[in-house]
Amino acid sequence: MTQNRSQAAEAAEDVGSNPSLNPTFGDVVAARFDRRDLLRGLLGVGAIAALVTPRALAAAEARSAEAGAANAPENRFPFAEVEAGSDPHHHVAAGHDAEILIRWGDPVLPGAPAFDPHNQSAAAQARQFGYNNDFVGYFPMPGAADPAAHGLLVVNHEYTNEELMFPGLGRQDLKAIDFKGMTRALVDIEMAAHGGSVIEIRRTAGTWAVVPDSPYARRITAETPMALSGPAAGSDRLKTSADPTGRAVRVTINNCAGGTTPWGTWLTCEENVNYNFSGTLAADSPEARNHTRFNLPANAYAWGRFHDRFDVSKEPNEPNEIDPFDPASTPKKRTAMGRFKHEGAAGIVAKGGAYVVYQGDDERFDYVYKFVTAGRADSGDRDLLDSGTLHVARFDADGRGAWMPLVFGQGPLTPGNGFHSQADVLIGTRLAADLLGATKMDRPEDVEANPRTGKVYVMLTNNGKRSAAQVDAANPRADNRFGHIVEVTPDAGDHAATGFAWEVLVRCGDPSIAQVGATFSSATTTDGWFGMPDNCAVDGLGRLWVATDGNSPARTGRADGIWALETEGAGRGTGRHFFRVPCGAEMCGPSFTPDDTTFFVAVQHPGEADEDDPKAAPATFENPSTRWPDFDPAMPPRPAVLTITKRGGGRVGT
Ligand code: FEO
Ligand code: CA
Ligand code: CA
Ligand code: CA
Repeated sequence: MTQNRSQAAEAAEDVGSNPSLNPTFGDVVAARFDRRDLLRGLLGVGAIAALVTPRALAAAEARSAEAGAANAPENRFPFAEVEAGSDPHHHVAAGHDAEILIRWGDPVLPGAPAFDPHNQSAAAQARQFGYNNDFVGYFPMPGAADPAAHGLLVVNHEYTNEELMFPGLGRQDLKAIDFKGMTRALVDIEMAAHGGSVIEIRRTAGTWAVVPDSPYARRITAETPMALSGPAAGSDRLKTSADPTGRAVRVTINNCAGGTTPWGTWLTCEENVNYNFSGTLAADSPEARNHTRFNLPANAYAWGRFHDRFDVSKEPNEPNEIDPFDPASTPKKRTAMGRFKHEGAAGIVAKGGAYVVYQGDDERFDYVYKFVTAGRADSGDRDLLDSGTLHVARFDADGRGAWMPLVFGQGPLTPGNGFHSQADVLIGTRLAADLLGATKMDRPEDVEANPRTGKVYVMLTNNGKRSAAQVDAANPRADNRFGHIVEVTPDAGDHAATGFAWEVLVRCGDPSIAQVGATFSSATTTDGWFGMPDNCAVDGLGRLWVATDGNSPARTGRADGIWALETEGAGRGTGRHFFRVPCGAEMCGPSFTPDDTTFFVAVQHPGEADEDDPKAAPATFENPSTRWPDFDPAMPPRPAVLTITKRGGGRVGT
């Protein structure tokens, strides 16, 4: 989700919700050299990097290249780059095809009516593909002749843009408008457009298509009953008038990134749920401190006016596990994994067999987490994610780091600090992590492990609110508008280990502007750099692919998209532009089939205005910045999932 969903929400984020005194190493300006900086003889801080021009960097690298031409970096991404820029269309690297698989409003469930944006209803939307597709996960169909040509695709629907979805409405979340045009009928359509979709897809003669009337087809919406499981289930703090047991809830919203598990389930993560709540909590409420730490409520939607449960109720917020192969199954909210703004939940099996799920909490100055299951990933236990240990990361200035367990009774997590049970620790995850001294990061988004190298990549999308006094080794730039990527190497190659080494893989932004302090390799072209890393994927060759959120003509002179990023060897830190979204959109997904022959990407909120361009006309249903992908004057822009394949077959991006 873009940061500027609403003035109200933006104001809440500006305040920041992390008032803890955890070190940002404010007085430690350059306690650490990272490896690339050592190679270049530069200190690891933007303020100093800014003194050295990229031209000087290039000259230094040219000298080292002269010293050994044999070290010329191997190009593991030998495709012709897409030209960076922005227009109403999508663009993919030459030699590849990018085709629309499914769009907002397309049928998912049998009997779904044809999409008619002028006569939309909640009942129709609940059977159709939802809005703002984000995470995409592919499950090969068991027994398929070609597992890379027949499977289930699970897709998150993160949020809604009322101004682009509904005729004659315009943006409703501005203070002067105050949701005046929102009706119960429109809110109910929005609720039906959230959540997720399960679709069956098949590739025939090279072309992917949705299998109509599949028995696996499912829509998950803000009305889908969910079960709470894990240590916080049944807690008094989760009981509501609709659910006096604290074990059942009816909602999943703001489903951002996610993950797939080796046991064939889909983890869909709830991120900015505070946006959908409104109302005022009593100042003396026992939940007041926890709600404040969560920026709750943020009043960005009108839902609370028509549905009491969104009027500052106490809905929990954890990764939700869904079995896509059983449409009748009840999704489970896994409370053991904590309550925070879960961006994603990408997992990997640790050396000892435990399943480890890495997770970012996407808020300025919030934390990176991992959950380590108590049982083995191959145990057959379908409730593996109910038992285990949640850890939060501390990045030390010497390049070492620690995963600190969030366990009731350990360290400061005691009744004296307001924690009376593990449920309290999990419901107040951020408050518990504050006490442990976790490192405040620049908006942690996706966190993915590379199965081939064991390294873990942390996308830190941006943080324009970090002051010079708040700079630290792992967040080395003040006013970090373009974000960076941190690489974590677990001790002994074990993802369950509590110690790790880390370094900054790349600081993003335009390397030709010295003040930006970007550190892409000098082999990176003017098309190959990017800002605002968000979702990411690692392919079967161990190559990293980064999706971005927030590039625009006004901010970086380019639309969002997919960039390949070299992580190894002499070419480390080289970006290459592979795919570009239409204007106004954000790049989501991405994920591969197991053999990398298909790359699924999701185009989210096409047609928005460029928020950084004060001259840009407000985008509306009648006047979007693009009518992608239909380009039909009667149709609004439609978020959609695309399949990218290599012409003539083979691995994408080779
Ligand atoms: Fe929904 Fe943090 O992106
Ligand atoms: Ca998103
Ligand atoms: Ca984002
Ligand atoms: Ca994201």
